[in-house]
Amino acid sequence: MCGIVAYVGNKQAAPLLVEGLKRLEYRGYDSAGVAITTPQGVEYARSVGRVSVLEDLITAEPDRYRGTLGIAHTRWATHGEPTEQNAHPHTGTTKSGHTISLVHNGIIENYRALRTYLEGKGHVFTSQTDTEVLAKLIAELYESAPESDNASAALETAVQTALREVTGAYAIAVTCTNEPHTLVAARKGSPLMIGVAENAYVVASDPSAIVAHTTQAITLDDYQVARLCAGPVDGWGQNAGIDIAAAKATGKPWAVDFRTTTIDNVEVTQQVTELEIDLQEIELGGYEHYMLKEIMEQPEAIRTCLTGRIDTREGTIVLGGLSNLSRELVRAKRIILSAQGTAYHAGLIGEYLFEDLAKMPSVAHYASEFRYRNPIIEEGSVIISISQSGETADTLAALHEAKDRGALALGAVNVVGSTMSRDTDAGVYLRVGPEIGVASTKAFVGQVAVLTMMALYCGRRRFLAPETVADYLRQLEQIPDHIATIVKQSDMIRDAVEKVVDRDNWLFLGRGYSYPVAMEGALKLKEISYIHAEGMPAAEMKHGPIALIDDGMPVVFIATQGSQYDKVISNIEEVKARGGRVLAVATEGDTQIEKYADFVFRVPHVAEALQPMLTVVPLQLLAYHAAVLRGHDVDKPRNLAKSVTVE
Ligand code: F6R
Repeated sequence: MCGIVAYVGNKQAAPLLVEGLKRLEYRGYDSAGVAITTPQGVEYARSVGRVSVLEDLITAEPDRYRGTLGIAHTRWATHGEPTEQNAHPHTGTTKSGHTISLVHNGIIENYRALRTYLEGKGHVFTSQTDTEVLAKLIAELYESAPESDNASAALETAVQTALREVTGAYAIAVTCTNEPHTLVAARKGSPLMIGVAENAYVVASDPSAIVAHTTQAITLDDYQVARLCAGPVDGWGQNAGIDIAAAKATGKPWAVDFRTTTIDNVEVTQQVTELEIDLQEIELGGYEHYMLKEIMEQPEAIRTCLTGRIDTREGTIVLGGLSNLSRELVRAKRIILSAQGTAYHAGLIGEYLFEDLAKMPSVAHYASEFRYRNPIIEEGSVIISISQSGETADTLAALHEAKDRGALALGAVNVVGSTMSRDTDAGVYLRVGPEIGVASTKAFVGQVAVLTMMALYCGRRRFLAPETVADYLRQLEQIPDHIATIVKQSDMIRDAVEKVVDRDNWLFLGRGYSYPVAMEGALKLKEISYIHAEGMPAAEMKHGPIALIDDGMPVVFIATQGSQYDKVISNIEEVKARGGRVLAVATEGDTQIEKYADFVFRVPHVAEALQPMLTVVPLQLLAYHAAVLRGHDVDKPRNLAKSVTVE
């Protein structure tokens, strides 16, 4: 939801933090702020709106923001409106007048009780946020931290002690004016990683803010605290976080040091690993928007997702991530597909796939509903959590609920090392690369591709003949090329959309595998163009929504050839008879459709089970062009954030 970036090292922090915030802006963009530790103390800049507003503030006074330690935040409001006062960093003052600065992702659930306690101690709150209590609690505890030869342990200890008092979720970065070379970071339930660069550490909630500096990183686990120190050997004074004598012995002018502990101060060893993301993947690369880039790169993304996993000659599928749990999956008595939003629509397609191809009872749930319905988990139940980010709060909670009740937990997740990928028993990564556009596109197709492989894998192990599977796999292998053909219609789709984009109510209809695609098409349109759209099974239209259809209302049909084609054509006729304007996604070579539809977008013919990976693509482009034509910021739609890490 929100984004954190923090830096301690030998370079000026402010420009680096602003650049990091820009990369994180897709995570939330109500307001932004920085705190830079300077020789005089600490300087803040906070602004409402986009990071560029903050950047203007900082560049107007470069001398004011000079310092090599800083923390920064881009916010998506949860508690408190998006105002400057509520923008992070938040602050607290210690008993002897040092300033604590803190940025936070997540939610402090017991903030009301803590606020009352801290107000009783004389702290004066200036914001409506839950975060401010954490800054003030750390300040309150700071001077109670035990004296130590290594004086920068005071901040670390105060953070550990404070975190033992809070309930909720957090990823935080904290500084104190008394420790000008020390950055403390911690996490529980909200992602946070530490880039280990030469002479510096970069802390961020997302690797995209780290890769410009280093690909070496540590991912913090829940309840872990990292103390990161970097500074000139001769200038640290007594508050060094390092062994100064040892640093001097190296002869180098700059020294760095980190340690990780639990919030109970038990030292833990963390591995530095290589980040699997490169800078090029997160740059716009000549496209106007990330969403368009991500739609256009789907052929390559899906090819990467399939590569090495399917053998079209043998009719075999290798899903290494399932490791030795594939037997349990194949023998499952019930598959529960759990997700939110676009990923839920992929889950709905998964429900059809597992029943159709593997004859396994399966049901898709909104994770947010599943987790609270006191779900019955019988023996042999498998939950598959589907997620791009791997951090969606409800999807994680549903996964934990199902696991606690005895389900085997599998994942279909994009972000490597995300909480979901670690909390599941096994899983299959989407491998579609980073998705920056807030509206999910390539991750959806990746999710469907992974679920298709899982369903075919089970089908093959249960009853499907090798030739049948081989035939599916040959068609699956063609999907990237087919998508490449479909995206060539982008201009034509824009021209069609232009003719109906002024209409504020749309319907999206499909049957069978195309019903979840209709839901997804409607979601894409509403989230970025702010047009009201509903997606539903085409047959549902007659049970109420048909009353909406009036002269010129756009109705999008997924009308590809397959078992229910004739029925869809009847539905199209019903819409036409009431004056609706029909936009149809149809199979290449189908000439009949032109008699009924006002606009036709073509997809190559494939088996019905594989069609969603193709039919969704024109709908992504349709939504994209509608939003651009309406003048909206496609990559940062209002009120939205890339990953919803709160309930
Ligand atoms: C819509 C969209 C959201 C996400 C949903 C789940 O375009 O992106 O509906 O699909 O918030 O997010 P993940 O997949 O990260 O769990």
